[in-house]
Amino acid sequence: MRGSGASLVSAAWAQPAGDPAKGKAIYEQKCLLCHGEKGDGNGPAAPLLDPRPRDFTKGKYKIRTSASGRLPTDADLFRIIAEGMPGTSMPGWKVLPEKDRRDLVAYLKTFAGDAFKEAPKVSDLPKEVASSKESLARGKEMFEAIECNKCHGNAGRGDGPSMPELKDDWGNPVRPANLTKSWTFRGGASAREVAARLVTGLMGTPMPSFIDSVEKPEDVWHVANYVKSLGPEKMDFATILPVRAVQGEIPDDPAAKFWEGQPPHHFPLAGQVIADPRNFNPSVDMVTVRAVYSESEIAFHVTWDDPTPSKPDPKAKTFADQVALQFATRPGEGNERPYVLAGDGSNPVTLLRWSSEGGVGEASATGIAKITPRTGEAVKAKGKAVFADGQYRLVIKRPRGGADPNDLAFPVGRFLSVAFMAWDGGAGETGPRMAFSSWYYLRLEEPGSNKPYIIPPLVVLVTAALELLVIRGARRRTHGG
Ligand code: HEC
Ligand code: HEC
Repeated sequence: MRGSGASLVSAAWAQPAGDPAKGKAIYEQKCLLCHGEKGDGNGPAAPLLDPRPRDFTKGKYKIRTSASGRLPTDADLFRIIAEGMPGTSMPGWKVLPEKDRRDLVAYLKTFAGDAFKEAPKVSDLPKEVASSKESLARGKEMFEAIECNKCHGNAGRGDGPSMPELKDDWGNPVRPANLTKSWTFRGGASAREVAARLVTGLMGTPMPSFIDSVEKPEDVWHVANYVKSLGPEKMDFATILPVRAVQGEIPDDPAAKFWEGQPPHHFPLAGQVIADPRNFNPSVDMVTVRAVYSESEIAFHVTWDDPTPSKPDPKAKTFADQVALQFATRPGEGNERPYVLAGDGSNPVTLLRWSSEGGVGEASATGIAKITPRTGEAVKAKGKAVFADGQYRLVIKRPRGGADPNDLAFPVGRFLSVAFMAWDGGAGETGPRMAFSSWYYLRLEEPGSNKPYIIPPLVVLVTAALELLVIRGARRRTHGG
C-alpha cells in the first residue's frame, strides 16, 4: 500500500502468520545463496556483494515503520521481500505467491532467537504536508540545521565530510545515499517513504531517526519534500546520443551557460566483472552527456558524481579519477562493433579521456590491459574539468577529422558508436577495476533538424543480441569453460 492512508502501517497486512517450516524450504532455494544457511548474511555469494546481504541473526532491519531501534513488523518484512531494495542486489520477490512470502517472514524471524517475541512499536507519521515553495524553503533550512549535509553533502550527492568514516553495525563501510538519485533509495523513492525513513532511521547504519531533532513534527515532511526536490524520482536512460549542430565557437568551460541549454542524455554504467580484477561495486553508476558539433569540431560535455576529487596516493591507496569516451578506431559498415571492453587485436578502439592527474588525453587500445596513451601531435583532444559538490563536469573537444583515414572521423548523419568508462580513484578504482557502459549509437544531426533521429527498432534488437553473444563469449574465455 505505497503512498496511501495516513498511518505508516500497511493496511494490507491483516493476514494469518506464515509457516516457518514451509518458509525454510523456500529460503533454502531462493535466499540462502546470499543470506547464508544460518541467516547470518554469509551465503556463498556474499563476499561479492556490497552492501552485504542482511545478517538476520541480529534482528536489525533498515526499512521499518517501527520506532527507532525497534524490530520491524511482519508487514514491514512482507513489504520489503516483495519490493526488494533498490540500489542493492536484493531482488523483489513478487514472483512468489503471497503465501510463500508470509512463510518466509515467519522463517526469517526464527533466525533472531527470542528477539521477535517482543511486540514491535509502530511509529506514526506526522500529518502529510504537500510540497510547496514554503515547504521546500523550510526543508532546506532544516536540512542544514540538523546537519544532513555532514553526511550527504550540500547538494545531497553523498559527499559530506563524514562520508569516508561511516561504517555499518557489522563494520562494513557504508556510503551515505546520493539524495539526487532517489530511485536508488532502499526503502522507496516517494516523499512518504522518505519521511518514514526520517522518522524511523535505517537501523544498523549511521543514518539515525530524526523525529526528535526536528523543531515540529511536520518538519519531517518539509525535509522529505526538500530531499525529493534534489533530483528526479526515476531516471530515463538514453538509447542514442544525438549530437546537435551549433554555429561558431564551442565553449571550453564546463560551467558555461551554453551547456545548460543543451539536452542531457543519461547512460547507465555497470561494474566491470568480466576481466580480473573485477569491480562488483562500482562507484560511478551513470554519466550524463551533452554533445554538439560545429563546422570543424565535435565536443562532449560529461557530468558524473564522485564524492571526492582524488589524485594518486599510494599511502591512501587512491588513484586518479578518470572518465573515457570510447569509439571504434575503424568504424565498419553495419552492426559490427569492437569488443566493448576496449576492443581487441583485430578491432581497436580510440579513447578520448580525462584524468585528474593528466587532464585530457587520447589513447589507442586493443583490450582492457592494452591501452597505449598517445603523445605529442597525435593528441588532438582538448578540454577541462571542474569539480563542485560531489560532481565533475568535463568538456572534451576534438577536430571532426576525416582527412586522415587512420584517424577518428565524425561525419554528419552516420551512425557511429560510443561507449563510456569511469573510475573513482578515491574508491580505489584503477585499470580494469572500473565501471563501463555498453555501446550506444551516436549521430551528428543534420543542421537545422530539431527532431532526433529514431533508430529503427530492428537495428537495436540485432545489436543488443550481438552484444550479448560477445559478452557471453568473453565470459566463457575468462572462465576457461
Ligand atoms: C542476490 C543476493 C540476494 C538474494 C538472493 C536475496 N537477498 Fe535479501 N538482501 C540482499 C542484500 C544485499 C541485502 C541488504 C541490502 C542493504 O543492506 O541495503 C538484503 C536484505 C534483505 C532484507 C533486509 C531488509 C531490511 O529492511 O533491512 C530482507 C528481509 C531480505 N533481504 C530478505 C530476503 C529473502 C526472504 C530472500 C529470498 C526470497 C532474499 N532476501 C534473497 C541480497 C539478497
Ligand atoms: C551520520 C551520517 C548521516 C546523517 C547525519 C544523515 N544521514 Fe541519511 N544516510 C546515511 C547513510 C550512511 C545512508 C545509507 C544507508 C544505507 O545505504 O544502508 C543514508 C540514507 C539516507 C536516505 C535513503 C534512505 C533509503 O531508503 O535508502 C535518505 C533519504 C537520507 N539518508 C536522508 C537524510 C536526511 C534528510 C538527513 C538529515 C535529516 C540525513 N539523511 C542525515 C547517513 C546519514
